[in-house]
Amino acid sequence: MLPAGFKKHGAKLLLRFLGIAMCGIIGVLTKEGNAGKLAYEGIKRLDYRGYDSWGIAVKGSGLSIYKRTGKIGSIPNKLLQGSIAIAHTRWATHGKISVRNAHPHLSQNGKIAVVHNGVIENFQELRDFLAEKGFVFKSDTDSEVIPMLIEMYLEEGCSFREAVRKALLHLKGSYAIVAIYEPEHIMIGAKNASPLVVGLSDGRVLFASDLQAIAPYAEEAIFLSDLELVEASPEIKIYNIESGLSIKKLPKKIDINLCYADKKGFEHYMLKEIYEQEQAIINASAQNESLLNKVVESIKSANKVFIIGCGTSRHAAMLASYMFAKISKLNASALLASEFPNFANLIDEKTVIIALSQSGETADVLEAVRAAKRKGAKIISIVNVMGSSLMQISDINLMMNAGPEVCVLATKSYLAQLAILYLIANHLIGNTEQAKKELAEAAKKVPIIIKKNERKAKLLASKLKNTSSIFVIGKNACSITALEGALKIKEVSYIHAEGYASAELKHGPIALIEKNVPVIVFAPDASDESITNAIEAKSRGALIIGVSTERAKCFDYFFNVPCKELFPILSIIPIQLLAYYLALERGLDPDKPRNLAKSVTVK
Ligand code: M6R
Repeated sequence: MLPAGFKKHGAKLLLRFLGIAMCGIIGVLTKEGNAGKLAYEGIKRLDYRGYDSWGIAVKGSGLSIYKRTGKIGSIPNKLLQGSIAIAHTRWATHGKISVRNAHPHLSQNGKIAVVHNGVIENFQELRDFLAEKGFVFKSDTDSEVIPMLIEMYLEEGCSFREAVRKALLHLKGSYAIVAIYEPEHIMIGAKNASPLVVGLSDGRVLFASDLQAIAPYAEEAIFLSDLELVEASPEIKIYNIESGLSIKKLPKKIDINLCYADKKGFEHYMLKEIYEQEQAIINASAQNESLLNKVVESIKSANKVFIIGCGTSRHAAMLASYMFAKISKLNASALLASEFPNFANLIDEKTVIIALSQSGETADVLEAVRAAKRKGAKIISIVNVMGSSLMQISDINLMMNAGPEVCVLATKSYLAQLAILYLIANHLIGNTEQAKKELAEAAKKVPIIIKKNERKAKLLASKLKNTSSIFVIGKNACSITALEGALKIKEVSYIHAEGYASAELKHGPIALIEKNVPVIVFAPDASDESITNAIEAKSRGALIIGVSTERAKCFDYFFNVPCKELFPILSIIPIQLLAYYLALERGLDPDKPRNLAKSVTVK
């Protein structure tokens, strides 16, 4: 639903909405008096969710607020203390980036501070309603209505918890919030359709948009479902927002290796995560047998199977449809999650949806899954982020266990997804043990492929740094590797790159080939049909960059990937490296490309 005033302000308003939607939030309540420090350190680990402005509120003797535009910088020492602190980092491609629009937002009396991630669709109505009651707004955001509504209910005599709950009942849209009230040693977190996790340690409670922000400070976690509210004092009480009734949830032990990331000596997360692909394949292959059995039973009793995802996860879905057809003789169509409504008529109770998402928070995927669920479809998800929304709404969930992927570009999650899908395709025909052996072999090949190709990728990047366009081709499953290769190059180096099934080149794109235009070809061997298409491009002057198990004559450059069996999966590695070094050559930050965010929580 569009809010009142939407038409009047048009696209500008929409972009402002987008800008407030993909944010990171954190809340810390401690007995040690270092809440500000933990919130500040935690929010720095969430900056991949947004990096245009940030802010923190710390409760010490009173409430201190500090907000800045730009990437997260330093904060005054006195703000590192306090018993409770909340913090926020914001992302926007357009719209007003300003201190007054940065979070936390305060109530009129300045005693309630709130950080919010999500979109309040009916914020204009709420602003008008509150303005009539005498509330004066200081920002242009939708979020500011939340502390004002809470104040309104406090004035009516509600407890802080009840005031927050009643305020949330007014909201249409999505939210994850953390709220504090200066006179009370209480912190409240709540969520609906935006992520929020609770971390616990002795006398310490933390809220965050994802676990990795707080993993170093918490031993256990509670994963919240939609419409849940948590009151922390530090005792934890959970309530359903609609009914107000209390809910019991048991905390789960946190595996720090699976949810905490640092650069481990690498200059960037992207390079570290490319190197981590060996372990990602190993971890992803170690799936629980009974879960795999359940997945296979569901697929076998279905009359239709769709695999959905966005971006790189969509490429994994497309590559998987080749694997299912070839290995298991199963027709599993890959659909772009955002286009799913067009196929909704095909969904019924005998449909299985395999939903792929690193973050488990991608709005297009979640919406498609919810629509499929309403029609009775069974949902199998493959996600990397523990406790994510997708994981929670699925019937069966397989974890990638790839460890946190911090760089905005998907690398190790792609290989992890494909390893799991390869396992499922083989499990369907009872070939699991053989598939596990092949995956173990593939994992061993990752460091070899990196070693053979990293220097070459670096050299080639310095040669191609000023090129304006790159074509990427491949045949069969490698046609999807071509799409993924092109995506990696364009999103991190900003060089225009297009991927094609190699035979398609001659049906149009070859018109763009002229002298020295780079064409990357993924060819499992020198006799692959894609080589013919590469030669056709070379005849028109193209510079041919071959990714293959062997050197073909037409290659001007050669990335050696010595792995024929899982070639369409592993051959992406040299192009991930090329993309990384192209970004460096062009002076760009590979971990945070412009206009992108790691979790795309808006439609
Ligand atoms: O978290 P998800 O796997 O659902 O994310 C989907 C896409 O947003 C993501 O793959 C995006 O395309 C990456 N930037 C690709 O590198």
